[in-house]
Amino acid sequence: MCQKLTGTFSWWRSFKVDKVTTKLPPRKLLSALKVFLIVLVFIFLFLKDFFSNSFQDVSDLVRWNLAFFYHSNDYTHSLSFKILEETETRVYCLSHIEYPTVLESKEHSQQVDVYIGLLLHSNEISLVRSWVSETTKLLKNLIEQKLDVFVSIIEDAGKQDVKEQLRDFSSFLRELKVGYRIILGKSFVGYPHRIYTLSRIRNCVLLPLILQEISATHVLMFNDVTYQFERVLDLIVDGQSYDMKCGIDYFINNDKTLQLYDLWVMRNMDGDIPRAKYPFFNRFDSDRFVRKLPFRAYCCWGGIALLNGSLFREGIRFRGLPNLASSSYQSEAECPQSEINFFCDDVWDIRGKANVFIYSSLFSVYRSDELESVSLHLNKIQNQKAQGVAEISPPQHRPKNIVCCPWIEGVTNIAGATTVCYSNYPIYKLPEGPV
Ligand SMILES: *[C@@H]1O[C@H](CO)[C@@H](O)[C@H](O)[C@H]1NC(C)=O
Repeated sequence: MCQKLTGTFSWWRSFKVDKVTTKLPPRKLLSALKVFLIVLVFIFLFLKDFFSNSFQDVSDLVRWNLAFFYHSNDYTHSLSFKILEETETRVYCLSHIEYPTVLESKEHSQQVDVYIGLLLHSNEISLVRSWVSETTKLLKNLIEQKLDVFVSIIEDAGKQDVKEQLRDFSSFLRELKVGYRIILGKSFVGYPHRIYTLSRIRNCVLLPLILQEISATHVLMFNDVTYQFERVLDLIVDGQSYDMKCGIDYFINNDKTLQLYDLWVMRNMDGDIPRAKYPFFNRFDSDRFVRKLPFRAYCCWGGIALLNGSLFREGIRFRGLPNLASSSYQSEAECPQSEINFFCDDVWDIRGKANVFIYSSLFSVYRSDELESVSLHLNKIQNQKAQGVAEISPPQHRPKNIVCCPWIEGVTNIAGATTVCYSNYPIYKLPEGPV
């Protein structure tokens, strides 16, 4: 029996009362309907594009999709994250790591020439051993050149031998009188958003810089890679003024060819993504690449990146969430991309014409047994002898359009991150901002 109700919302209330006995459609059906509607719009726009042959429509379609996911999934998260993102404290940082053990030097300089940051996650001992061995050589060289260094490491989920190796490394740093902070943990405390989590952890590695406890000239950031120390040393001492200098990360494909590892982050000065297989870059960049010369880029990381320390004095830090219509550059929402792409956007926002360089001479690998073979492959395509920084082109404006490879939590997975922008998604370019 339906109870009659009066008042402002009576029609609504009576509806509710009416439906008390009737079942509401189950959640599953609603989400299926939602998905069905998206697919329908997708097909409609695709066909429309197919017939009109206009790129703009495809671009709109992706924008529409992104907007949908923002609002349905991530946007409410991002609002609560936004508040947390303002907070950067030691305690907050440690709260991201389960059962943290902190190894810390008693004292350290407040001003260092090189701040070294390393992030390790569930890595093999062979990789860590190789990194420690190269970094030991790097440190000895830096110290010989009277450069002051601080080392910051976060390691989680590694086996006991990895933790032992890092403990030994901390004793070595103590002997060298190098300041350090090494955090060993059981695992990361994940948030439901991978990129958000990663940006938090990266900030933890850089916490002393962000809190302005340490001021650095160069900030050398490592992914869980290994490398050849001479090549990193070159970047630090070559005297080329910069905002970011990056290496290139590679792996050996199943068919034994050399392949670029990170296609998700790198953008050239046209805002485009390199090719996975050789030739990796456009003609201009490739010409410098084979001569082992650095060339300009909009964004890069490549497993190893050297960041200008003054950026941190100007308040830069990693973030995992798009700016919504804040900067004049983005006309609607920023691409929901990787934390490194956000970092690049911010570097260009701070500097105007930023100096971002990819160093063809510096390479990194994620498996220690690939160091040798990648080096051999590169020797075949690059000049044997590195030739410094000759003829670097003058600073340029940022590209007007930048390829967007969105991270959509729950939809994109780590391996699929590049697939999304290559095959499933049409390449989406950010439109020009309002003039
Ligand atoms: C860092 O950036 C500042 C400001 O652009 C510049 O003056 C300085 O030379 C840069 N430092 C290095 C080491 O390139």
